[in-house]
Amino acid sequence: MKKKHSFGIVGATGAVGRKFLAVLAERGIEPRDLRLFASERSKGQQIGFGGRQVAVEAVDGADFKGLDVVFFSAGTEVSKNVCPQAVKAGAVVIDNSNAFRMDDEVPLVVPEVNPHALKRHHGLIANPNCSTIQMVVAIAPIHRVNPIKRLVVSTYQSVSGTGLEAIEILERQTAARLAGKPLPEGVYPHPIGFNLFPHIDVFLDSGYCREEEKMVRETQKIMEAPIPVSPTVVRVPVFYCHSEAVNLELSRPFELDAIRNLLREAPGVVLMDDPAKNVYPTPVQCQDRDEVFVGRLRTDPSVANGLNLWVVADNLRRGAATNGVLIYEAMAREGLL
Ligand SMILES: NC(=O)c1ccc[n+]([C@@H]2O[C@H](COP(=O)([O-])OP(=O)(O)OC[C@H]3O[C@@H](n4cnc5c(N)ncnc54)[C@H](OP(=O)(O)O)[C@@H]3O)[C@@H](O)[C@H]2O)c1
Repeated sequence: MKKKHSFGIVGATGAVGRKFLAVLAERGIEPRDLRLFASERSKGQQIGFGGRQVAVEAVDGADFKGLDVVFFSAGTEVSKNVCPQAVKAGAVVIDNSNAFRMDDEVPLVVPEVNPHALKRHHGLIANPNCSTIQMVVAIAPIHRVNPIKRLVVSTYQSVSGTGLEAIEILERQTAARLAGKPLPEGVYPHPIGFNLFPHIDVFLDSGYCREEEKMVRETQKIMEAPIPVSPTVVRVPVFYCHSEAVNLELSRPFELDAIRNLLREAPGVVLMDDPAKNVYPTPVQCQDRDEVFVGRLRTDPSVANGLNLWVVADNLRRGAATNGVLIYEAMAREGLL
């Protein structure tokens, strides 16, 4: 019989935290014990799991003793302050925030791409950024047989990537616009209903925003290769799933059908590529799915060995909760907990 583990989820009332609960249940993972944490605001709130109700605890001052694994998705500040306490109490921490991703001592893992990195963990594993996860799942199988020399990516990212408040502001702005009323403000620097903007996370001195920097640095760390990445990130008025137009310059000539075959076989990837029948992935089709969907494969005649791809995945699942649970499953399988 598989060993049961005790889990904690910090940020359990949020968009990602709730998905963690859904993914654990769907994958038949029965916790020996389950504790849910959020801010003081949510203390005492009841959340259902496996036919029972679990009361949310405030994370401030929490004692993590007895928990085997704690998933963190309550933002970078909470992770910086609290993850070390959970590790000290003996838990393995799988952290969804940006707090530790570029720390050399912390493995940054997508199980289909670099599961070997888990072996050198010191109690803390970082879950990469959502837009990076789906991209590396799609490109790693190609890179393994035909190394990528350069990558250009433009993203079309849904509001659920910002959390529950952003889902609500898109609903309210959409309803207000359709009713001819003034748009409510909030969450973003511009209206997102019927709009889009090339800005995710804070701007850096380089002129890039932090989400773009994450896509460059995290891709290189996970792929263990200094691939030059040129990103532009865009927030779009879509509720769930991020989409990405990815342009690759490969090292050698290739046949498109060989790339299609590679992607058909690749773990975690679903190929949806039949333009004659309008078959390519869209956010609505990919919502609530755990795989990365790839379509619109084309050679790029503007550069030697160029390849264009369209990549879509559910950011709350594949880009967050599912990746965290896959990390847990890989560690349990390899005896790393
Ligand atoms: N959304 C995505 O697609 C995605 C993908 C990858 C990674 N992430 C990361 O996951 C984290 C959460 O994202 P989300 O989308 O789930 O956001 P969210 O819907 O806004 O939820 C935030 C969660 O964090 C808790 N929280 C906030 N401030 C806290 C504090 N000071 N102390 C304790 N708990 C606090 C909230 O608790 P209350 O309900 O009590 O306020 C809530 O449970 C972020 O670090 C984000 O970068 C998100």
